Parts: sequence; structure tokens; C-alpha cells
Amino acid sequence: MKLGFIGIGNVGGTLAERLGAKGHSIFLGARDPLSADAKELAAKIGSHASVHSVQEAVDLSDVVFLATPWNGTREIVQGLRGLDHKILIDCTNPLLPNLAGLEVGLNDSGGERVQAWAPKARVVKAFNTVGFNIMANPELEGKKVVMYFCGDDADARFQAKRLIEDVGFEPVEAGPLSSARLLEPFALLWISTAYKFGFGRDFAFSMVRGGSLGPS
Ligand SMILES: NC(=O)c1ccc[n+]([C@@H]2O[C@H](COP(=O)([O-])OP(=O)(O)OC[C@H]3O[C@@H](n4cnc5c(N)ncnc54)[C@H](OP(=O)(O)O)[C@@H]3O)[C@@H](O)[C@H]2O)c1
Repeated sequence: MKLGFIGIGNVGGTLAERLGAKGHSIFLGARDPLSADAKELAAKIGSHASVHSVQEAVDLSDVVFLATPWNGTREIVQGLRGLDHKILIDCTNPLLPNLAGLEVGLNDSGGERVQAWAPKARVVKAFNTVGFNIMANPELEGKKVVMYFCGDDADARFQAKRLIEDVGFEPVEAGPLSSARLLEPFALLWISTAYKFGFGRDFAFSMVRGGSLGPS
């Protein structure tokens, strides 16, 4: 698939590398397309990766990953053209400083805000619930780490599920985009466990199932 990345730092860069390794075409959207870091990332991924302006990366892609700091995300999304009907995978977390909570509270979500800023995009919330270090290799103790995802468009969820599998996670479908109200606090739990509760970043959640219960 043709995958665009808005935000090519820890999360965007790691996902671009993992998905590039699976043969997807990678369009890295950089604020400065001449930056050495962006060129280095593209070179690491290989000849099917290239660096562009953020708008060009969107224009060239079928699926766009959004992995920007929350405080700039509204301006970035509202400033883009051509997101209509594209799959927009929102990896952001609307964190308050010092892990004090979520800027949007618990009766709204960053995912739904992103949808409001790009009303005709097909937004899927995913890749927000564990650290980028886990995304780099989402298998611990021989078991795949779970990645919850949600969105209102069934085809977008289906495509996102395949990409989640390509990164190496066990996908867990969580219904409509309003489930981002669950996924974002879940991310805060991972971050708090890593930084407040003293476990560090090298852990993740997995799903343990009895018999054949639940979707497989
Ligand atoms: N870090 C994690 O483990 C993790 C895990 C899950 C979710 N998240 C969420 O994912 C998002 C990104 O986190 P991160 O750790 O990847 O951040 P990061 O390493 O700081 O990377 C942010 C990226 O966004 C780019 N950016 C910033 N403002 C931009 C703009 N106006 N236009 C275009 N690009 C812009 C930055 O470009 P420049 O280099 O030019 O500044 C950089 O490439 C955050 O919302 C975070 O909460 C993070």
C-alpha cells in the first residue's frame, strides 16, 4: 500500500520502518524535506521510501499515519488538503503535562477531535497504546502484544487491521471511533506504568483467552 507519515519521529519513524520492511511504499512527510534525519530514515527503509513535504506525502498516499505532538495536531490536520476519503490512522495521545490526565477528558477523545478536524477522512485510532520501543518489535515472551483499534468506517478498520498485523501486533477490534475514549486512557495507563509506577518502557499488555471465547 501507499503509506504516508505526518510526524516521522519516534512513532512515525518506527512504524515507517516496520511497514517499509513489509514492502509498503513509504512517503515520509517532513517539515523540512531536506533534513538529514528524514533522509537517513528513508535510506534506512530502502528504495521504496522517499521524503516529501507533509502535503505531498498526503497526496501520494492511500493511508496516512498521524504521529505528531498533540498540541500541534489541530493546526496540522486543518492545514492539510486532500484527506477526504483517505484512511487517517491517528496515533496521537491528547496528554496533559506531567501525566495529569487527558486534555479531552473521558467523554470525548483525541480521535474524535481529529475526525472533526478532517470530517471526510476515514479516521482509525491505533498505535497509541504502547511505546514506540514496543512498536519496533511487538513480541514479548514469545507472545504478540495486542493493539486495539477503532473507527467508524468498516473498510478503514479492515485495512488498519492488516497494517497492525504487518507491524507485528495482535489486532483487537474495538468498534466505533468513540472507543478512542477507552484507548486513550489505556495509553495513559501504559505511560503511567512505565514512568510513574517504575516499570520502565520494556513491557506491554497481552490478551489471555479461555477456550474459544471472543473474536479470533
Ligand atoms: N513516544 C511514544 O512512545 C508514543 C507512543 C504512542 C503514541 N504516541 C503519540 O504519538 C505522537 C508522536 O509522538 P512521538 O514520540 O513520535 O513524537 P516525536 O518523536 O517528538 O515526533 C514528532 C514528529 O512530529 C513532527 N511534527 C511536529 N510538528 C509538526 C508540524 N507542524 N508539521 C509536521 N510535522 C510536525 C516532528 O517533526 P520535527 O522533527 O520537524 O519537529 C516529528 O517528526 C504524540 O501524540 C504521542 O503522544 C507516542
